[in-house]
Amino acid sequence: MITGITGQDGSYLAEFLLHKGYEVHGLIRRASTFNTQRIDHLFQDPHTKDKKLILHYGDMSDASRLTTLLATIQPDEIYHLAAQSHVRVSFDEPEHTGDVTGLATTRILEAIRLVSLHSKFYQASSSEMFGAAPPPQHEETPFYPRSPYGAAKVYSYWLTRNYREAYGMFATNGILFNHESPRRGETFVTRKITRAAASIKLGLQDKLFLGNLDSIRDWGYAPEYVEAMWLMLQADEPDDFVVATGVSATVKDFLEASFESLDLDWTKSVEIDPIYLRPTEVDALVGDPSKITKATSWTAETSALQLARKMAQADLELLNNPKFLDEFWWRY
Ligand code: NAP
Ligand code: GDD
Repeated sequence: MITGITGQDGSYLAEFLLHKGYEVHGLIRRASTFNTQRIDHLFQDPHTKDKKLILHYGDMSDASRLTTLLATIQPDEIYHLAAQSHVRVSFDEPEHTGDVTGLATTRILEAIRLVSLHSKFYQASSSEMFGAAPPPQHEETPFYPRSPYGAAKVYSYWLTRNYREAYGMFATNGILFNHESPRRGETFVTRKITRAAASIKLGLQDKLFLGNLDSIRDWGYAPEYVEAMWLMLQADEPDDFVVATGVSATVKDFLEASFESLDLDWTKSVEIDPIYLRPTEVDALVGDPSKITKATSWTAETSALQLARKMAQADLELLNNPKFLDEFWWRY
């Protein structure tokens, strides 16, 4: 079962698990517009016999729905990915973020405790929890969150550990550093940059407004990170793992690589707009993935600059052929 199946990671994880032969259950929110674009290529008609992908309406604010669903599905593995995941937005909506990114983890852990204790649980923890703690960050680095989102994720991290210790649940935290892809939400900095680069290349836009260009991030490729999630749940014991490339890049580096891959000069198009600055910034996140590499042999393969080029090309292709969206998702 995957919460957040319609998000970037949920879509790659669903593909990965279906490919392994799993029956996948996904929680989706009812919306007045379609919100399943990232998983439309996986959709199976409800009337299909022996369906492998089954979608259920539900919201992380609804504890009784979560309990009923778990009682019915009895999943072997639960990947809890649903969240209000945008750091800047969490300053505007701190209470909502606390509810959906923080408290909702208690709702699903309680549902497991009550009706599905055998289910293995994966919590989508975040490098944002390290916040102001200097890099390189690893499993023993003290948390110092710098946003309502980071604070909500720290709460969820500790709830996951507490249920593991209190009830013997198989509950694991994956502390993932930033990971991106052509499916990344359009308001995260990498996708904002690559979409703008493609649009500028085609003459559809001339300016790109950004905030802090000096932030340092450890950007990896999302499909590789969902494999790490699965590996963590195949371990003999539940534990907490950092997942990262170990290599740093600035927003400026990412800009340069994206624009240059389309033969563009970013300095001619980018302007700073203070509305994109955060009340408190996380200056540098660079992870040390030694523990997961030792436990599972997982390592990141794609570098931030390769990713910048891949995403810029994908956005160019998408803008040129918007009607081939289905084919597009498959290929990236
Ligand atoms: P994402 O693209 O923003 O996807 C978030 C998912 O959560 C979407 O499916 C969204 O549904 C769902 N969701 C939001 N509020 C919900 C609610 N109230 N009830 C049910 N579902 C709800 O995020 P992502 O990048 O795939 O990240 C997946 C998880 O990993 C998140 O928890 C994120 O915080 C965490 N994480 C991400 C990164 C990263 O770099 N990507 C790093 C560390 C941790 P809709 O499609 O309907 O909006
Ligand atoms: N979004 C955005 N928009 N960020 C900008 C911009 C802009 O216009 N200009 C500069 N930045 C800077 C931000 O200030 C931040 O330092 C950096 O680019 C990355 O911002 P995001 O792409 O929004 O990601 P994030 O690092 O804040 O959060 C992401 O990674 C976390 C893991 O560390 C999200 O995916 C979180 O959900 C995830 O937990």
